[in-house]
Amino acid sequence: MRIVIFGPPGAGKGTQSRLLKERLGLTQVATGDLIRAEIKRGTQLGRTFQTYIEEGKLVPDADIRSIAEQAVARLDYNHFILDGYPRTVQQATWLEAFLAEHHAPLHAVLSLIVPTENIVARLSQRRMHAETGDTYHLTFNPPPADVNPALIQQRPDDRPEAIRERLRVYDEQTLPVRKFYEKDPRYVEISGTGEVQEVHRRLLEVLGRFAPVDRTA
Ligand code: AP5
Repeated sequence: MRIVIFGPPGAGKGTQSRLLKERLGLTQVATGDLIRAEIKRGTQLGRTFQTYIEEGKLVPDADIRSIAEQAVARLDYNHFILDGYPRTVQQATWLEAFLAEHHAPLHAVLSLIVPTENIVARLSQRRMHAETGDTYHLTFNPPPADVNPALIQQRPDDRPEAIRERLRVYDEQTLPVRKFYEKDPRYVEISGTGEVQEVHRRLLEVLGRFAPVDRTA
């Protein structure tokens, strides 16, 4: 199965991708994680990315395109969930052409809809494990007691001014991707509010329309 999960910052794309990955045996290709890994490696590209990401801006299309396409190629163009890509109309156009060229079209584009006030509440209280990348929320999903608190950190782009910029960038550059897919039968909007498991069930139900999905377990 080949899926895109789409939505504004903090919509729950990462949280839901991880659940779908476990449930459906897919590999999560999260461009934000790939960028953070590049920054951690301290490469020249990573240093360039750091400035963009900390300011809440998108990294250049051409750079993220090659990272995303290489990741999908490594998976033999199948069994993946793309989280955070495409994020511009240019990226969406490239992705569609790339997958068509490899006879591996997307099955579904799942678009999570979450009101802005929920997004700000989610991101301002998000914390991330510095080594595993596991994501927590101080209220809804606090880190377990046996996790070293020194490793629980706030992402630099979860500071209030960076959140504001990410939302502005989302409206300006990413919302048009919704328009790009809007009339496509593979595009489905799903409410991303409510309990994490409730949203997960909604996604499974929608995916069941595109391919057989076992929802009983
Ligand atoms: P990325 O890491 O992808 O950030 P994002 O898209 O802004 O998304 P987030 O990770 O902030 O949120 P999410 O939707 O995954 O929500 P999560 O599940 O964590 O990208 C970071 C940066 O990299 C970008 O700003 C850009 O600079 C660059 N980048 C990445 N891809 C790019 C691309 N294609 N092109 C150019 N640049 C790119 O949940 C958020 C919080 O809410 C968590 O605390 C979670 O526990 C909580 N939560 C989740 N679901 C629920 C729920 N149902 N109820 C209550 N709380 C919930």
